[in-house]
Amino acid sequence: MRICVVGTGYVGLVTGTCLAELGNNVVCVDADTEKIDTLQKGMMPIYEPGLEEIVHRNVKEERLSFTTSIAEGVDAADIIFIAVGTPPKEDGEADLSFVEQVARDIALNMKSYKIIVEKSTVPVETGEWVAHTIKINNKNKVEFDVVSNPEFLREGTAIHDTMNPERIVIGTNSARAEKIMRELYKPFNAPLIVTDIKSAEIIKHASNAFLAMKISFINAISRICELTGADVVKIAEGMGYDSRIGKAFLNAGCGFGGFCFPKDLEAFIKISEKLGYDFELLRAVKKINEEQKKLMAKKIKDALWIIKGKTIGILGLAFKPNTDDMRFAPSIDIIKQLQTEGARIKVFDPVAMERAERHRLLEDVEFCKNAYAVAMDSDCLVILTEWNEFKELDLLRIKEAMKNPVIIDGRNIYDSAAMKEMGIVYRFSSM
Ligand code: UGA
Repeated sequence: MRICVVGTGYVGLVTGTCLAELGNNVVCVDADTEKIDTLQKGMMPIYEPGLEEIVHRNVKEERLSFTTSIAEGVDAADIIFIAVGTPPKEDGEADLSFVEQVARDIALNMKSYKIIVEKSTVPVETGEWVAHTIKINNKNKVEFDVVSNPEFLREGTAIHDTMNPERIVIGTNSARAEKIMRELYKPFNAPLIVTDIKSAEIIKHASNAFLAMKISFINAISRICELTGADVVKIAEGMGYDSRIGKAFLNAGCGFGGFCFPKDLEAFIKISEKLGYDFELLRAVKKINEEQKKLMAKKIKDALWIIKGKTIGILGLAFKPNTDDMRFAPSIDIIKQLQTEGARIKVFDPVAMERAERHRLLEDVEFCKNAYAVAMDSDCLVILTEWNEFKELDLLRIKEAMKNPVIIDGRNIYDSAAMKEMGIVYRFSSM
């Protein structure tokens, strides 16, 4: 099929690339000339395992191309995905101005029937506005349909998630569009949920909010564990075997970050408020998550007594492993809190440091070449991202390098009994 994807962020670039991999002809459009330049030179604007190889293959086989011209993209496609950013405004509401702009640009360039697919995460009723915007700018008076087709991929496993979806949601009120979308997604062989546009939009927000709720729930349980001496890791295991609960997203720690959960949660709370419903439950999810970050600083303080003048080593900057993304990462807030108290900060992240340095995401920190360099003469080591290489550290070497063997683990990656045996003061989500 002939496809155009507008927006080459995580969702747009991965969706376009994977659809090309399935044999479709895909044109990816972005207004950012630097990004398109980078992609045309064969380089990736984001770090995502496996992406580069598939992009190269599909470009070489002429199924995938990049352009800044939306007219070119619209001309070359029957299905147009809108995958532009919906960043949070000051008050937490989603900023939909990019979506509106793209809808207008698509409409102005349409010369034949098109399906316009909402791929970006958007508030309920956005589909209606997209349809309205296209209608009033549809100067060639061509037929079109709007579809909501939310994305569920995770950063770090984006290719796998896109190629092996657990479900595909199609929101539409057009039988014609439904038939074409079913055809497009047939090769994925995944359960397909066809519904109205509004329900599809809410499925996305509800899914992210539910997952965030699971994390805040287990984090709340970890607070009870701290007060009683119970073990949150074992509790999560004991709960997770119940198939109604499930094991996933029950890892307690320093809280969730990234560009999706915090932003989407906030946006969902706002939409509900606008619709006249106070989504108290989600406000609590957000509050617990904020508290988890503050709790990390408190644990460090409890272990060191005075923070001022101490050297604190941070292992992990990205909001989760296998990505260099630091947007809304717990590391940013926690480092700032420690700096406010007068700590000297050393950091290491296997992938995210380059972006952190280039975009000046952190002020006054010492970037180190590895975890051992961070540990050298540190008063305390703090784990904020569960990269595999941190799980395999030579902890005796770490202990020897440190001024004071204190490890505060925001991701529960070590065995507390083993740490005690090694003479390391170890604090994790239950302590
Ligand atoms: C999330 C959803 O999982 C995707 O389904 C969705 O498509 C995406 O948002 C989006 O809306 O675009 P992502 O933000 O890439 O994906 O990352 P997750 O793996 O969901 O992790 C989010 C945060 O939760 C991370 O900071 C992670 O460390 C934290 N987390 C996750 C926990 O603290 N505990 C857990 O048990 C699981």
